[in-house]
Amino acid sequence: MRTLTQLAFWLICCGFSTGTLAQDAKAGEKKSSWCSSCHGVPGFKAISPEVHRVPMIGGQSASYIVSALKAYKYGERLNPTMKGVAATLTDADMADLGAFYGAQVQGGAAAPAGTTAASSRQAADLLKKGNCVSCHGENYSKPIAPAYPKIAGQHADYLFAALKAYQTDGNPQIGRKNPVMGGVARQFTQDDLKVLANHVGSLQGDLHTVVPSRSR
Ligand code: HEC
Ligand code: HEC
Repeated sequence: MRTLTQLAFWLICCGFSTGTLAQDAKAGEKKSSWCSSCHGVPGFKAISPEVHRVPMIGGQSASYIVSALKAYKYGERLNPTMKGVAATLTDADMADLGAFYGAQVQGGAAAPAGTTAASSRQAADLLKKGNCVSCHGENYSKPIAPAYPKIAGQHADYLFAALKAYQTDGNPQIGRKNPVMGGVARQFTQDDLKVLANHVGSLQGDLHTVVPSRSR
């Protein structure tokens, strides 16, 4: 009886995003085999609704993984593939998957890799205008809140698609309703977003593709 009451309390009051549901990385690893068919194949490309590489999710925090999965499940992010995937996941599944992917940290964020002087000057101006570092943190790899993403070193074509999605309204297949990033992205032209995506994608960061090991 006491456990039931506690469970009800967790579900109603706190939810798993505050870390109250037990997160089990081992269970998450088992549940990740489906995810690996896309996220476990280096360079794997989504072709619909747009062509771009699927994001690297190894090394994002557990909270961000859970927050993104919820956004797909509840329609804040409209991508049909991930909406279909997330719709099948329970809160406990999401917590386990977050624990698994969030534990896949390789090294620390290194210093930014070199980009050409001209492109990085233009990018530096845009990064300053958007104050990106104030939320995504040092080297765009140390976000200031657990549910915010690391973006350094993410695939540039995915970053561009994601940034454009924050500007998109009225398309049933493409769009992200996060108000914070909506306000940021709408200050820029698509050419600006491309410069930002290429620059941030060229930086070194923690993100990587988690390739399942065959021995398991
Ligand atoms: C059929 C391919 C496919 C499968 C299977 C799949 N994903 Fe995805 N995933 C994608 C694509 C494509 C995107 C980018 C969607 C977008 O543009 O918003 C994505 C985005 C994500 C994101 C957001 C990443 C970010 O940087 O914001 C997370 C988290 C994620 N997937 C987790 C999972 C998990 C966990 C599973 C397994 C339960 C899974 N995905 C299964 C293709 C897939
Ligand atoms: C006020 C805080 C804030 C600022 C400033 C900000 N971001 Fe974000 N960013 C966020 C949050 C929160 C999210 C997660 C939104 C969501 O879940 O869709 C995000 C998501 C993103 C994503 C999607 C990542 C993914 O893996 O899907 C990209 C790309 C991004 N930001 C780039 C930028 C760039 C480039 C700038 C500067 C031009 C910037 N952000 C400025 C808070 C911020």
